[in-house]
Order: sequence, then C-alpha cells, then structure tokens
Amino acid sequence: MSNRLKVTPNDLSAFWMGFTPNRQFKKAPRMVVSAKDMHYTSSDGRQILDGSAGLWCVNAGHCRPKIVEAIQTQAANLDFAPTFQFGHPLAFELANRLVDIAPVGLEHVMYTNSGSESVDTALKTAIAYHRAKGNGSRFRLIGRERGYHGVNFGGVSVGGIVGNRKMFGTLLTGVDHLSHTHNLAKNAFTKGEPEHGAELADELERIVALHDASTIAAVIVEPVAGSTGVLVPPKGYLKRLREICTKHDILLIFDEVITGYGRLGTPFAADYFGVTPDIMVTAKGLTNGVIPMGAVFVTKEIHDAFMNGPEHVIEFFHGYTYSGNPIASAAALGTLDTYKEEGLLTRASELAPYWEEAVHSLKGEPNVIDIRNIGLIGAIELAPIAGEPGKRGFNCIVRGFEHGAMLRITGDIIALSPPLIITKGQIDELVDHVRDTIRAVA
Ligand SMILES: Cc1ncc(COP(=O)(O)O)c(C=O)c1O
Repeated sequence: MSNRLKVTPNDLSAFWMGFTPNRQFKKAPRMVVSAKDMHYTSSDGRQILDGSAGLWCVNAGHCRPKIVEAIQTQAANLDFAPTFQFGHPLAFELANRLVDIAPVGLEHVMYTNSGSESVDTALKTAIAYHRAKGNGSRFRLIGRERGYHGVNFGGVSVGGIVGNRKMFGTLLTGVDHLSHTHNLAKNAFTKGEPEHGAELADELERIVALHDASTIAAVIVEPVAGSTGVLVPPKGYLKRLREICTKHDILLIFDEVITGYGRLGTPFAADYFGVTPDIMVTAKGLTNGVIPMGAVFVTKEIHDAFMNGPEHVIEFFHGYTYSGNPIASAAALGTLDTYKEEGLLTRASELAPYWEEAVHSLKGEPNVIDIRNIGLIGAIELAPIAGEPGKRGFNCIVRGFEHGAMLRITGDIIALSPPLIITKGQIDELVDHVRDTIRAVA
C-alpha cells in the first residue's frame, strides 16, 4: 500500500512550513478555516481580527465578492494560456489598467508569481538594460541593511537580514549595502517620517567612490521597510537617493511589495513620497493576496532599450510559465475594480490621522521602546527579554491569537497593517488587542 494512503488527514508533520518554528506550531497549532472582510474564523470557531492583512496582502479584506466571482468565472472559461509567443486579452487589459494607476513614466509591466520573483525580475532587468545600452560593466547591485526583498538568491543578496542570508553561502557577488536608517536614539516615537537620517542616502556616493559608477547597475530599497519592523524613511532620504542615482546613471528600484496598492493612502509609495523609481516591484495587494501574482513596472526607456534586432528574435530571455496566468489576471482585475469602487487606494490617507493617534496611544505600556507609523502601517517595538531576543515578540503572536487578533511580528516588533477596509471602531479594537497583549507578555 502506498504511504499516501496511510497518512491521516490532519497529520501536521508533512508540511514543512516557511518562516515558522515548526515544532512549536505543530504542538499548538494556530489554525484558521474561513475568513470574511476583517476577520478570520479559527478552527475552534472564534472570530480573529486581521491585524496584518494576512501577510500585508489582503488590502480589500477577505473573500470579497468581485474577486471571488472573477476567479470562478475565469476558471470555467480559460484556465491556462501561455504568454510566451501567445497571449490572452486579460493579461493585456490588466497591464493597461496597472499602467493607468502607476506613477507617470512607468509604462510597461512584466508579470511574476510573487514578490521574490518580482525582485529578481527587476534586478535582472536592470543589469540587462545596461548591457543592452552598451554598458555591460554595470553589474553591481546595491541593497540596504535590514532590507527584505524576498527569498530568492537575488533578493537575499541585496537584502539585509542576517538570518535570511547566513545559511546560503556566497549569494550573488558584486553586491554592496547602504546602512539602514533605523535610529532609536534620535527618532524614537516619531509620528510619520523621522527628522533625522536623510544624510544616510549620501552613503551611495561613498559606494560609488569605492566601486566607480560605471560598475553599478541599480540600487534597490523598500520605500518603507516592512519585514524588519517598519522603518519609515527619514524626511528627504528617498529624494536624495533619487538624485544621486540620476547623477550617476544608476537605476533606482523601489520594492513596493508591501507599500503598493494603497497602503500609504496613495496607489504607491512613489506617489506618497513624490519620488519615481526606474523600476517598481509589486505583488501581494495586486490580487488582494488571493492568487499568487506580481507585477514589475519599468520606464519606457528601459523597455525600449530591448526593442531592437530582428523582429522574430526574443528581446529579453526572461519570464515564468505562469506570467499573466488568466485566473491570476482575472483576480487582479477584480481586485482593481474593488479598490476603485470602494476608494481603497486612497482610503488610508483618510484614516491615517486617526490611526496615528490610536497606535501612539500605546506609548507608556510596558517594554514599549518605540512606536512608528505611516499610512495604515504601525509598529510597536518592545524591549527584548534579556538573553532571549524574539521571545517577547513570539509570545505576542501566541497571546494575540488566543485573544482574537492576528498580529505580525518581526523579532520583538509588532507590525500592524490591517486591511484598508478597517473602520475606526475596528482600529480601536485592534489597538486594544495590542495593549492587552503587550501587558500580558510583560
Ligand atoms: C518588500 C518585500 N519584498 C519582497 C517580498 C517577497 O514577497 P513573496 O513572499 O511574495 O515572495 C516581501 C514579502 O513580504 C516584501 O515585504
């Protein structure tokens, strides 16, 4: 008899879960079985308030009718079609709709299936662009400490989280890193963008002086770093980075995997900060997290640099089997319709003042050493338990779930990013959950 037949349906051991302490989880699983709007239902029938839009992706809330219907209809009509050498209309319609809401200048879109793939697509595009322009010596990539750009080799190489890097050998060569901008001594408890730290962008000049601009292809940053605990850029930092990139013909890549699709109260963080990158990386909120899909936006100049040579020859040797998958495209269109009808790409700007006050009301709670916010994002940094970094944060996950909230934690930092449909009453409820949790783990 095959081993498969002997597996009990609820055996948890076979699934090796990502970014999870597997042994702990499987002893005391935190399971959800359904979801609607702002809430999950747990396997023991409790309502769990979603404090993190899943993994920063369910921007329109859960099981939204337009998205569900789009997927169901598409699955019954055209389930799969290649987008290598063939096409289907939805992928083109979606690209046009995306370019319509993108910052001016970003005119072309490539599809992927995740944030990690979007990042690697962007990095490859940057290097290939310079080569296509006759600048093949521009191969270096510059990331930033505490940056998160997914888990593929390119993204891990430019990323700056030691735990994600140290197990995986040499990674990509020719990569350098800017310093991160987190400065508790100067910026703790800032509301919105911190005052101190714009000068850290000038480190790019130091890196240029070290390697020479003629060897550097691109700089990649998250406009607001999420996965290392919400690092809001200092006032003027991104503008400065843009200026230095432009001065040296270095491409600027914004990783908007978490900031894209309304998180800051503008369609993209590029709009919020008034800084347009050359390449913009997105995923997550593109389909409301429902079907895996990413989109990488590039300027006309980058796109056009590839459009030469004989017309029967492929211009860029890159793409994924599922790039522009019909069902994913339908989910994305249903998502964009929902965002538009409910004004969700700008709703966070209306809620932001209320949100800011609510999140900062946690100042003075036990072990709270910083609170940060921007758009509909908040972070509460807790002092670690001596000798056990991350333990207090982990306790927050467990306690929060037991008491009815899904909280996202990095280390000892609680990162809040609820669905953009949240009401003011639910903001209060979420902050009360966080307050109870912080007290309980003190
Ligand atoms: C900024 C950023 N880039 C890339 C990724 C990777 O996305 P994915 O997990 O879809 O590969 C994430 C995921 O959290 C992210 O926050």
